[in-house]
Amino acid sequence: MIQLPLSKLSKVGTTIFSQMTQLANENQAINLSQGFPDFPADPQLLNLVDHYIKKGFNQYAPMGGMMPLKEEIAKKIENSHQAVYHPDTEITITSGGTQAIFTAIATLVKDGDEVIIFEPAYDCYEPTTELFGGTVKRFKMTAPDYSIDWNEVKKLVSDKTKLIILNNPNNPAGKILNEKDLQELVSIVKGTSIFILSDEVYENIVFDGKQHLSVCKYPELKERSFLVASFGKLFHVTGWKIGYCAAPKNLTEEFRKVHQFNVFSVNTPIQLAFADYMKNEENYLHLSQFFQQKRDLMRSGLSGTSFELLDCEGTYFQAVKYDKISDKKDIDFAHELTVNHKVATVPFSYFYEDRLNENVIRLCFAKEDETLEKALENLRKL
Ligand SMILES: Cc1ncc(COP(=O)(O)O)c(C=O)c1O
Repeated sequence: MIQLPLSKLSKVGTTIFSQMTQLANENQAINLSQGFPDFPADPQLLNLVDHYIKKGFNQYAPMGGMMPLKEEIAKKIENSHQAVYHPDTEITITSGGTQAIFTAIATLVKDGDEVIIFEPAYDCYEPTTELFGGTVKRFKMTAPDYSIDWNEVKKLVSDKTKLIILNNPNNPAGKILNEKDLQELVSIVKGTSIFILSDEVYENIVFDGKQHLSVCKYPELKERSFLVASFGKLFHVTGWKIGYCAAPKNLTEEFRKVHQFNVFSVNTPIQLAFADYMKNEENYLHLSQFFQQKRDLMRSGLSGTSFELLDCEGTYFQAVKYDKISDKKDIDFAHELTVNHKVATVPFSYFYEDRLNENVIRLCFAKEDETLEKALENLRKL
């Protein structure tokens, strides 16, 4: 038998999202664990895809992406953040946010580099960094408010720091960065050669009239940032796995050197369909309102129970503390909820490398109201 080489990612197993979804399926539980909508995409978008497939747009797209889509993205960014990216040389269509993140990290990180991340952290930042020989330095944001102590972040910076990875709005904490946070970041990176990877896949899901502050609004950040977005989150089509990376020309040139040997290019007819669909801004500007109604349904359904609702400023995830209900670790509590109460959630400890347990679980509210009502009925019995 051929001996396998040592694993490059020995700590990594199946993601918690897949584990909880499998447990949900085995137990016929309502799945509020994985972050995907259970409602259909807009039929107009589906018809556009159908149209372009039937019209014969079924061969390779150009490596950087279809021009009409890149133009619409440039317009969207300019209208939302007053920042200019050249569609041809500064925007690259990727196979979801995940591939944009992977490619940006692969573009930058070499052996011995340090990468700063903020926990609770989305799961792909750390393994991807390690795959390319980088070391992860962590700042821990903790319950109940998940705020950032920038003096502590400064202490993590060294002459080896290559990259800071942000996730704003944050999955799983539902936290958004404010003006002070962004200014603190500017003061940390100004005059250094530190790059930024800003994962903003939930940028259009921000609540209570608050503003999403993109790194591209700040010239000192924009010039060093890879800005990542996802159409899966924007148009309720997570299975299509299309996103993009916006970055200044010199960064995009390097990014595309990796991208072309990674996926080369992305699904042609869907890019064309997105380009047409994006022409109507309402198709994405209504998202905050749409999801705020679902967030409020979930929050009002849980008020008066022993679950403690943490703030949810953005994303489609609600974090809840359950220590008045159980003293079990979050992984055991999430297991019990799925098996005995038929609601699958995600334990927060999985978003911390040291599995910090603060008795918090994450509930996804990107679901039909009916699905949410059923889950709430079960949760209210606890
Ligand atoms: C914070 C964050 N970044 C990136 C992604 C990946 O996006 P995509 O599905 O487009 O690859 C997700 C998906 O859940 C996410 O929550």
